[in-house]
Amino acid sequence: MAIGIVPSVLSADFTRLGEQVREAEAAGAQRIQVDVMDGHFVPNITMGPMVVNAVRRCTSLPVEAHLMISNPEQYIEEFANAGADFIIVHQEASPHLHRLIQQIKAAGKGAGVALNPSTPVIMLEDILSKLDMALIMTVNPGFGGQKFIHEMLPKITRLRELIDQQELHCDIEVDGGVHETIVPLVVQAGASLLVAGSAVYNEQESVTEAIARLRNAI
Ligand code: DX5
Repeated sequence: MAIGIVPSVLSADFTRLGEQVREAEAAGAQRIQVDVMDGHFVPNITMGPMVVNAVRRCTSLPVEAHLMISNPEQYIEEFANAGADFIIVHQEASPHLHRLIQQIKAAGKGAGVALNPSTPVIMLEDILSKLDMALIMTVNPGFGGQKFIHEMLPKITRLRELIDQQELHCDIEVDGGVHETIVPLVVQAGASLLVAGSAVYNEQESVTEAIARLRNAI
């Protein structure tokens, strides 16, 4: 199974966002994730469609819009028009998830559903076949630089089993606290896409060195 590194620009230096995205692409990243937070679904306010569009214009990589917002159904078209290739909504944010996935697909985009740490994998069982990807939050959403929650490892494995049992083509993405020492654990558990914010964008090393370090840990 090919494992992809997905830098999250939440930790990037926004005074030179384009450069930071292009360096990640040149260093072999698979996609770029934009963390959209509304200060309501999560206790932080970050960025919207304008930043998704700015990232879109800087890279040929697929762009993910990770919507940590309430009422995501009101904004799907805006993020689609902004240039997101994958739109990820939270299971906890929408009582009408089946309809919301259809809305994302109708906009011609890849559909993903994210689960907060306390939400069981079983919540995805009946829509898994409709998804292009499922995201397991490995921190409580809202901030970069948090510590990985190790109790999420068996949850990743359960999701991997569910997907393999149904013989589906659905990526498992993990998000939060992913660093060099965590990479082999989540890959072993069954993840195929690894989101990394502070492990890619930090002052200790360049983006190129950081992505090589994560890649070597696979
Ligand atoms: C947190 C976001 C993550 C975050 C990851 O709510 O969804 O994408 O940016 O950052 P690190 O890798 O530093 O935990």
